[in-house]
Amino acid sequence: MYWMKKTNIISFRIPLIVCLLTCGLLYCFSYLIEHTFEKISIQQNVTELNSVITSIERELTYYSPDENRDEFFQNLLLILTGHHHLFVYIIDDSGKIVYRTRGPNLSIALSQEHFDRLITENSTAIWNIDKSSYRIGASRVLLDEGRQYTTIVAVARDLQLEFIKRLRNGLGLLIVIACVLALIGSLISIYFTQKPINRLIKKIEGINMKSLNYRISTKSVPVKYVSLVKAFNNMLHRMEDVFDRQRNFTADIAHEMRTPITNLTTQTQIVLNNARSTDEYREILYSNLEEYEKMSQMISDMLFLAQADNHQLVPNLIDIDLHSMISLMCEYFEPLADEKNITFEIEGSCSHIEGDKMMLGRAISNILSNAIRYTPANQTIKISLSQVNQKRIQIIIANPGKKIESRHLPHLFDRFYRVDESRHRSGKDSSGTGIGLAIVKSIIDTHRGHIHVESDDLSTRFIIKLPTVI
Ligand SMILES: Nc1ncnc2c1ncn2[C@@H]1O[C@H](COP(=O)(O)OP(=O)(O)OP(=O)(O)O)[C@@H](O)[C@H]1O
Ligand SMILES: [Mg+2]
Repeated sequence: MYWMKKTNIISFRIPLIVCLLTCGLLYCFSYLIEHTFEKISIQQNVTELNSVITSIERELTYYSPDENRDEFFQNLLLILTGHHHLFVYIIDDSGKIVYRTRGPNLSIALSQEHFDRLITENSTAIWNIDKSSYRIGASRVLLDEGRQYTTIVAVARDLQLEFIKRLRNGLGLLIVIACVLALIGSLISIYFTQKPINRLIKKIEGINMKSLNYRISTKSVPVKYVSLVKAFNNMLHRMEDVFDRQRNFTADIAHEMRTPITNLTTQTQIVLNNARSTDEYREILYSNLEEYEKMSQMISDMLFLAQADNHQLVPNLIDIDLHSMISLMCEYFEPLADEKNITFEIEGSCSHIEGDKMMLGRAISNILSNAIRYTPANQTIKISLSQVNQKRIQIIIANPGKKIESRHLPHLFDRFYRVDESRHRSGKDSSGTGIGLAIVKSIIDTHRGHIHVESDDLSTRFIIKLPTVI
């Protein structure tokens, strides 16, 4: 009964449908066979009756049973030879039986209500006498001398009826057996189809938050379920990734907040240990101010990202000339770039776009500040503007420098993700928190644009596509 529990209601529907279909099909088939056989038997009987009646009619016209008695009976015998279960009565106009075969009394037929119709319409009828069934036909021959003879011929149907009865019973039994077999067969096949699914369900049920790294082996499932298992494993992979990031995100925030607070606490403790001059206090307060500003910047960045996550960023859309906006930003970064003798080169052009100037400015300055940081001294950062089509423009910001390994590229826009693991979480490097590119992505997404990064030995390129009208 265990398998019955496992096979749910839906699984029973299919065997039931298969069973009903088999039953219906076989019933139609048996009806057809029975009907055809019955039709053929009737045809056979009618043909036999008609041929015997026609032969007897011919003999009656050639040889009158009164005048050529011997010839007539001799020929009659010849006619009836080979016809089994056939009975003949020949009755003259006075009602005298001229000839009769052994068997049922056919003369009673003369008194039957519809007998005359048999003669006039040249038809046959079924007649049941003494628990036996016959098909009867009749004819009337009028001779020149004014005499008339009635011929009644009957053929027994009992054998045919018995055969049809047995055929019907046999086919009925066949239908029942076939239905039961179809039901059992489809239940068994469903059970075996369901078995690996049940195993799979059991495995899936065992997966929880702590075992998100579990993957179902594709070797343990039938080939037809391999793609399903692969898709499920991929989903697990994505979920594990999201959970990991969520976990890291919380840990990263805590870490990023702890570093400046630890710095401030340590610095304050050191200062409090000894009396300091006013200048020394001022210097320490300036240094603390830097940490406060950094923390404040990080909190506002986090708030910005939270707004983006909740779709609360509403861009203040105005007409923007990207070429002049980017030129101004390069001018703004020039002092920083000059420190490493880095130059900017802007090439190409594109149409004006609709966008939030503050947000887009922030996105481009984040990319430019990264570019300056990672470009080796004395090199050039190239910014190319182009028109993808009438409705889309493209900005490529390319800087030479060390290639970013391809495994890092898909994560570059994740929050707190930094390529250099030693800097990541070390807290020694105050250069960045790893939120810059996450903010860039949120801004581009808010503008219904797309951003991706490519990197090779020659350069690292941030490619932004933006619609001209949002
Ligand atoms: N132009 C670039 N060339 C090489 N690596 C880059 C470039 N831009 C970004 N990266 C890598 O991507 C990481 C993430 O950049 P992101 O701007 O998000 O953070 P960050 O610059 O470290 O900190 P933040 O921008 O928040 O101050 C960087 O730490 C760096 O490893
Ligand atoms: Mg950055």
